[in-house]
Amino acid sequence: MAFAPRNVFITGGAGFIGANFVRHWLARPGEGRVVVFDALTYAGNLDNLAGLDRDPRYLFVKGDICDEAAVRALLEQQRIDTVVHFAAESHVDRSILGPDDFIRTNIVGTHSLLKAAKALWVDKKTVPDHRFHHVSTDEVYGSLRPDDAPFQERSPYAPNSPYSASKASSDHLVRAYHETYGLDTTVTNCSNNYGPYQFPEKLIPLTIVNILLGKPLPVYGDGMQVRDWLHVEDHCRAITLALNRGKPGEVYNIGGNSETSNIEVVRTLCALVDETVGARPDLRAAFSASPAVRGARAADLITHVRDRLGHDRRYAIDYSKAEHDLGYAPGRDLAEGLRATIDWYLTNTRWWLALLGRDYAEWLAKNYSR
Ligand code: NAD
Ligand code: DAU
Repeated sequence: MAFAPRNVFITGGAGFIGANFVRHWLARPGEGRVVVFDALTYAGNLDNLAGLDRDPRYLFVKGDICDEAAVRALLEQQRIDTVVHFAAESHVDRSILGPDDFIRTNIVGTHSLLKAAKALWVDKKTVPDHRFHHVSTDEVYGSLRPDDAPFQERSPYAPNSPYSASKASSDHLVRAYHETYGLDTTVTNCSNNYGPYQFPEKLIPLTIVNILLGKPLPVYGDGMQVRDWLHVEDHCRAITLALNRGKPGEVYNIGGNSETSNIEVVRTLCALVDETVGARPDLRAAFSASPAVRGARAADLITHVRDRLGHDRRYAIDYSKAEHDLGYAPGRDLAEGLRATIDWYLTNTRWWLALLGRDYAEWLAKNYSR
């Protein structure tokens, strides 16, 4: 029988995918309340949730998932029956520079949530039905060679970065709480997301922002690493399907069917931004350092830099289980999704300029004073 969440606890809901999910969920009139729980690290941003506080179904609480007592109290007070767990340290490069936060949030934090959920839902039986949905990544499966078959749910775990190792550990803990204690869990392992509200440290928003500001576009190594890009709205839809139709204890791989090399993604963004900026006088005035303004090409900003340590060469996802069991299929193709994403970053300049810090305050005041 389908599971119908009533009161949903969304960890990491002020981050990129979490905020898109909160919006996606609240845009569905039939859905119940959401409690967004987020520590507001560098990646968490209340601007991502702007306007939602007008909805009586929405509540934001600042807090750390490692604080088990706080989590447990909230789950009980708010009569939560569903956890959708996004909160994590998510950037591979940061995990290479400093793994400690990744171990703490991604492993200890996930365990703290599992303990709180088990104590209430399994031990005290505070709600008739429950669901703990864990949002995970395809990176737990490691790296594929060019001719390897895409990752399946049964592919062996082989994480290569501190980030992916911490996510793999959290996946194992979720599995263990299902097998050992009977917690109703589902897990989605998804490929690379892109779209609105993505922090400009990740490849796609970083490239768009740097083209607009006329800054170098760093491409790691030869740029021939392959990712399977998925628009974040498709991921949100997949999570909703897993919540409603997923079977307890099951894992679903989610992908976009759009394997593309990094260099191709960057070149496509260069061409699309050149075309858009070149054609619009308002953008030419606002982004005077962007190459198209002086008739140059953004692709000339591409700079090959030292490769990421332990860089995974290729990810690809076989999502046939999700297709068959959940009715999932990606909806947007990459070219269309990239155009929409560029439009979003052009329309929401204030959002990303605020993240880039004070260096741009003057620029912002000059160009966006009205
Ligand atoms: P993000 O870095 O944009 O957001 C993470 C959010 O978690 C932030 O709002 C941050 O404040 C919050 N957070 C961090 N530590 C916390 C803590 N201790 N307690 C409470 N909140 C905390 O991440 P994202 O890209 O939106 O990814 C969300 C989830 O999806 C992660 O679990 C990630 O592993 C997974 N995922 C991401 C992708 C992708 O392409 N971005 C793909 C597959 C899976
Ligand atoms: O596959 C899912 C994963 O996708 C998620 O689990 C992670 O949370 C998410 O950050 C993402 O990881 P990646 O490392 O693949 O994403 P990122 O945008 O950092 O990099 C994408 C590719 O682009 C990767 O091969 C590294 C490369 N890259 C990245 C940056 C930031 C560059 O060449 N230059 C860059 O400046």
